[in-house]
Amino acid sequence: MCFPGQRIKFKVFDQTRPDPSIELVEQACGYIEGAPCDFILTLGGGSAHDLGKGVALLSQTDQSIKAFVGVDKIGHKVLPIVAINTTSGTGSEVTRFAIISDVEEKVKLAIIDDALIPAVSVNDTQALLSMPPSLTGATGMDALTHAIEAYFSVDANALTNAYAVKAMELIGENLINAYMDGTNVLARENMAQAQFMAGVAFSNASLGYVHAIAHQLGGRYHLPHGLCNAVLLPIVIDG
Ligand SMILES: [Fe+2]
Repeated sequence: MCFPGQRIKFKVFDQTRPDPSIELVEQACGYIEGAPCDFILTLGGGSAHDLGKGVALLSQTDQSIKAFVGVDKIGHKVLPIVAINTTSGTGSEVTRFAIISDVEEKVKLAIIDDALIPAVSVNDTQALLSMPPSLTGATGMDALTHAIEAYFSVDANALTNAYAVKAMELIGENLINAYMDGTNVLARENMAQAQFMAGVAFSNASLGYVHAIAHQLGGRYHLPHGLCNAVLLPIVIDG
């Protein structure tokens, strides 16, 4: 396919599923095999962006995705990513994290590397208005958890704290309004900014116990990531 009036050829992979698995990344990579891409454009929430990051990584190597689990394990070129967000929470459109599910082991794998930071990220409020309340609540609580865990991280600094604190303020003022009325453009706009700032904060300061446990719950039971965080956050804070 080609954009009208342009000479940019593209292929669409529309099989994104929540919690993208190793197999799904490999399937998507196979889709572009023989038709090399200059960049990957992802449209959706965290799962779409994480899948795209996996493809951007895996399409440039013969190694398996498990070889890159951990921090700064990527030593080769990765395709540039343009990430267009349709949810408000994961921050994946701006972070150096990709979370890929290992279905066999029932765990989530974290690949953390600057090479995975999208070259361009887009947060357009109009693309967020159709999010249902359940997704608004879950992704919003994910963003709040990012901000809190980044703030209390041992790797926090003045810059990440500035982003984290402002994100917490905006989420406190806007999440319930966005949940109650999805067409509230101001609340959606502020949540988009908040989750972006929380993403910048945790991408640089990292996360904590809530995400450590939530990823295991999600890997085993396939529960929504934000819901796992929401349930665990008060327990971890009390602990
Ligand atoms: Fe998260």
